[in-house]
Amino acid sequence: MSKEYKRTLITTALPYTNGPVHIGHLAGVYVPADIYARYLRLAGRPVTLIGGSDEHGVPITLKARAEGVSPQDIVDRYHSLIKKSFEGLGISFDIYSRTTSDIHSATASEFFRRLYDNDRFIEKESMQLYDAEAGQFLADRYVTGECPHCHNPKAYGDQCEACGTSLAATDLIDPHSAITGSVPELRPTRHWYLPLDRWEPALREWILEGHKEWKSNVYGQCKSWLDMGLQPRAVSRDLSWGVPVPVEGAEGKVLYVWFDAPIGYISNTKELMPDSWETWWKDPETRIINFIGKDNIVFHCIVFPAMLMAYGDGFQLPDNVPANEFLNLEGDKISTSRNWAVWLHEYLEDFPGKQDVLRYVLTANAPETKDNDFTWRDFQARNNNELVAILGNFVNRVIVLTHKYFDGVVPASGQLEPVDEAAFTDMEAFKASLTDNLENFHFREALKDAMGFARMGNKYLQDTEPWKVWKENPGRVATVINTCLQICASIAVAMEPFMPFMSSKLAGILGLSELKWDEVGTRPLQEGTKIGQPELLFEKISDETIQAQTDRLENIKKENAIRNFKPGEVKPEITIEQFGQIDLRVGTVLTCERVKKSDKLLKFSIDDGTGTPRTIVSGIARQYAPEELVGRQIVFVANLAPAKIRGVESQGMILSALNADGSLAVVAPTAQISPGASVS
Ligand code: MF3
Ligand code: ZN
Repeated sequence: MSKEYKRTLITTALPYTNGPVHIGHLAGVYVPADIYARYLRLAGRPVTLIGGSDEHGVPITLKARAEGVSPQDIVDRYHSLIKKSFEGLGISFDIYSRTTSDIHSATASEFFRRLYDNDRFIEKESMQLYDAEAGQFLADRYVTGECPHCHNPKAYGDQCEACGTSLAATDLIDPHSAITGSVPELRPTRHWYLPLDRWEPALREWILEGHKEWKSNVYGQCKSWLDMGLQPRAVSRDLSWGVPVPVEGAEGKVLYVWFDAPIGYISNTKELMPDSWETWWKDPETRIINFIGKDNIVFHCIVFPAMLMAYGDGFQLPDNVPANEFLNLEGDKISTSRNWAVWLHEYLEDFPGKQDVLRYVLTANAPETKDNDFTWRDFQARNNNELVAILGNFVNRVIVLTHKYFDGVVPASGQLEPVDEAAFTDMEAFKASLTDNLENFHFREALKDAMGFARMGNKYLQDTEPWKVWKENPGRVATVINTCLQICASIAVAMEPFMPFMSSKLAGILGLSELKWDEVGTRPLQEGTKIGQPELLFEKISDETIQAQTDRLENIKKENAIRNFKPGEVKPEITIEQFGQIDLRVGTVLTCERVKKSDKLLKFSIDDGTGTPRTIVSGIARQYAPEELVGRQIVFVANLAPAKIRGVESQGMILSALNADGSLAVVAPTAQISPGASVS
């Protein structure tokens, strides 16, 4: 940071309220933003953390339509769920509001109106896709088709997710309506366009010259956009859900969601600070930071800044836009529609009191420079091997020893030996690196630095071994324990941005009433202070707990496989005579056992009506336990050439059907049939 700022306004991308929040949102935006806000507060620097729901846009109206409820129902449901779960995770928003609020529609309308009055728009009629069946224009996610660039067949009317290109609905090859599936026609309609090209020189200078320090993914995306040349962008839509276009003759038109949503940052600041919001947006000594995911870069670095420039009146542009890459889940892309996610509200229910574990794991694994993967095994390992074994263990030993030797009172430190001096020198080094990493949004590295205090503390205890010295030299032990307690105090402060729940528990035990960044690495604990009883800061997470989560994901995979099942191609036609050559019969299972050394095969003995049981080997041991089918009837191919399978001669084949999720069922008659009867 080159300049000294008086205050920092931190914004977080407003999540769409078409579903709950998941770990991808958290890792990309909310956890890092919260870490940064908490750090600034500890450092005594004025900060406001703005959040809220993005309640307009097609994802919401599509969801409402799918459920047969109103868009308002959808946004009410998810807004309160999201707000509550953010609180549960300790995201310290100063305000979490919504874009359906009155103050927001007033602010967004006024914003549009001023641009309109100042001739900042181009108004033009053009041919747009229209779904005659639904009686509505199709834009954005209302229409899918082939991407003209990469030929992905499922590109949306605003963007191709496969190649990242931003599109206009009319660019799509072979478009289809997402509402009715029909092929749209072209109809004329009138819209307002923000001519981004007019702002291109200013944007180039501001970003390419002025913000070379931005993360390379952000800077790179901006540069490629600017180098491609900017085009006017429509900022209105023919829809009924949204902020109405505040112009005469614009009935049936609303602001494009990406026009109104970022103005939500302003509306929410206004709602929070009706008297002083302007200072937070217009004073050049305010520093604005936008935390977003990588799919939002163009809107925050190009479109919204162009809107702010067009508006004028002193609005400041962001100083930095630390966008993260994506987090995957167990190797697959997180997806709301495929239910492939760890949902925050479910996590909070399944892991009560373990908010910090999730915050820790998401930060340690944050997709800061590349996409990253969340796995439950890694979650468990980080909890058990790092939080429990390193951090929890150190703090617990220190508190226990303080009670054992000093009645739970902070002992006076005597003369420091080199090993004690080294502990404080190490802490200073961690603090310097930690601070630097936080200032530069390198939260993964920052977390490693913060863990350094506990790692170092464990080593210090090992090196000084107070339990061996106690008999001969209690004074020396007092110095060691005092040092350890000071390290604990540093942990309470240094970890607060990352793990606020643990931090406040630890601060409570240590009797630290106020946490100050300045005191990291120093001696904030006074001798003679009474400390609290040891409490477990973290506990082990068992294999069963993790198994339950991976089983849940396994089931979702199966559900998705069934939902997406497409029957295979029908085989080439045959004649009735050809079919008649296959001798299908009903049989009754007499006995069934596993084939030795095979986990797939079952050996059946079948009553086929001949009086001599028939042996059939079938590969269905994964789906059926041997005893399950005894006494049941099945259908088998009676004239299949015998084959030796694992040394057993199989005289036929049992018919079964395989499901998309890997489950299987044998084919059986619906009523009792004489064994040996033909199936035709
Ligand atoms: N709702 C958008 C998304 O989830 C983000 C909106 S950010 C804002 O991708 F700036 F427009 F608010
Ligand atoms: Zn594409």
